[in-house]
Amino acid sequence: MIQLEKIQVKFNPDTPLETIALKAIDLTIPEGQFVTVIGSNGAGKSTLLNVLSGDIIPQQGRVLIGDRDVTHWQTARRSQWVARVFQNPLAGSCPDLSVEENLALAYRRGKERRLQPALNHRLREMFREKLASLGLGLEKRLRDRMGLLSGGQRQAVSLLMSTLSSHQILLLDEHTAALDPKTAAYILQLTQQIVAERNLTTLMVTHSMGQALELGTRTLMLHEGKIIFDIQDKARSGLKVGDLLDLFHQQQQENLADDALLLG
Ligand SMILES: Nc1ncnc2c1ncn2[C@@H]1O[C@H](COP(=O)(O)OP(=O)(O)OP(=O)(O)O)[C@@H](O)[C@H]1O
Ligand SMILES: [Mg+2]
Repeated sequence: MIQLEKIQVKFNPDTPLETIALKAIDLTIPEGQFVTVIGSNGAGKSTLLNVLSGDIIPQQGRVLIGDRDVTHWQTARRSQWVARVFQNPLAGSCPDLSVEENLALAYRRGKERRLQPALNHRLREMFREKLASLGLGLEKRLRDRMGLLSGGQRQAVSLLMSTLSSHQILLLDEHTAALDPKTAAYILQLTQQIVAERNLTTLMVTHSMGQALELGTRTLMLHEGKIIFDIQDKARSGLKVGDLLDLFHQQQQENLADDALLLG
């Protein structure tokens, strides 16, 4: 389970550039839930994922993973549980290391030093098998530099990396946005398969409202650092993209009305 309690993130505090990216966010996500996250540019979606990964430490509030308070844990310490795939296929893996070296790094994460195997025959065979299961022919490219793979191939390997360690949480930040439609569809299907097989607690940021409603069982919409809707299960299953847009516009009107009241 993931719990965020009263999370506040400010950039450039006490300067004219101050931005409050997250405003007192409370959120509980049960183990194994797949949550999609939508919202306009600058709404705070990536910041929310950064707070979970440890890339940003909030000024206020607490982050709990399971029953551990990880608020002040750095990214490396959390990475045994938290895997991430970014929008840019170049992020999240090392372009100068080979495919098998990248996989070995992911495999060793969180394991005790003395138990770390070097890249041996057994590991190589395991990687070869897992790569073959992707159906992209990558099992023949174990020794190629990661930087030589296409964007879609790299995203597939990044997803595979999230299955090699004791990860419980998967954070996806527009991870199909840079891919052509066919490859994006493949990566989404692979995402669903991996999430289901490993019962990963997943947050997926997307700008596609269709994707947001199709995948997972819960959708959050962020706006100006706040969660403005949180819809799940039955309430979500009948929703169409048009309904989501209407809800968004309705919420914006309400915000404007609130602002007018405050000013008036
Ligand atoms: N490192 C930073 N320094 C200063 N301001 C930042 C920083 N990172 C984010 N912000 C600001 O915080 C707010 C939220 O940004 P965030 O990246 O979380 O938005 P987002 O919802 O992911 O948007 P997008 O859809 O464009 O990716 C924005 O106003 C952004 O400009
Ligand atoms: Mg973002």
